[in-house]
Amino acid sequence: MLGNITPGDSMVKRRSDPGIQLRSTCILVPLESWDGDWTFIRLMQTGDIADCARWIAETPLWQRYGVTEESMADRFRAALDAGATIYVAEQAGEVVGFVWFVERGAFDHSGYIRLIGVRPGARGHGIGRALLEFVEEKSFAAGRDIFLLVSDFNTDAQRWYIRQGYRQVGQIDSYVRQDVNELIFRKTRQ
Ligand SMILES: CC(C)(COP(=O)(O)OP(=O)(O)OC[C@H]1O[C@@H](n2cnc3c(N)ncnc32)[C@H](O)[C@@H]1OP(=O)(O)O)[C@@H](O)C(=O)NCCC(=O)NCCS
Repeated sequence: MLGNITPGDSMVKRRSDPGIQLRSTCILVPLESWDGDWTFIRLMQTGDIADCARWIAETPLWQRYGVTEESMADRFRAALDAGATIYVAEQAGEVVGFVWFVERGAFDHSGYIRLIGVRPGARGHGIGRALLEFVEEKSFAAGRDIFLLVSDFNTDAQRWYIRQGYRQVGQIDSYVRQDVNELIFRKTRQ
């Protein structure tokens, strides 16, 4: 189960354990309710794209934005070519989630979460939170705030972000789509 770990990866115990350190681009998060399996967070690789793009295209949220398997795969490919920072959560050799993080992507000053998603069927097991905490740790090492946009109709995600400590600080009307307003959410380092 831990065969994918390579030298230099840091291993993180339970997130409630004191003294957790995220020193490299990889962490391990044991999720008790997930059959005792380990979630391994690492950078996305080209080989992850096809599978990831497939379930993203099946997600109603992104269907509303016209995302298809092909368009998402193209977007990931272009992003990786351009050196984007996209992490995936891997479990038993399968990618179960991803987060696209842009350092100083908000106002050229703060961290910005561009996209985050967990595979349908893997949701509600703490994977999203592990990905979020992973990029927050990186963002808060560099600055005080982290921002993201969430669709006005995506009330489940809004509630989830609020539980993770985010607050709405603004709204951009008809930004990505004419018929959708994007809510600006912010979390500030404690
Ligand atoms: C929003 C989304 C990323 C959240 O990811 P997730 O993995 O389902 O979320 P989590 O499991 O971390 O959190 C859900 C709840 O499960 C619970 N949970 C269950 N098992 C858990 C475990 N072993 N460890 C931690 N939390 C667990 C948590 O209590 C959590 O509740 P909380 O919000 O009070 O912390 C995911 O649902 C998703 O991809 N949605 C569709 C796409 C989307 O809306 N993306 C956001 C766009 S802005």
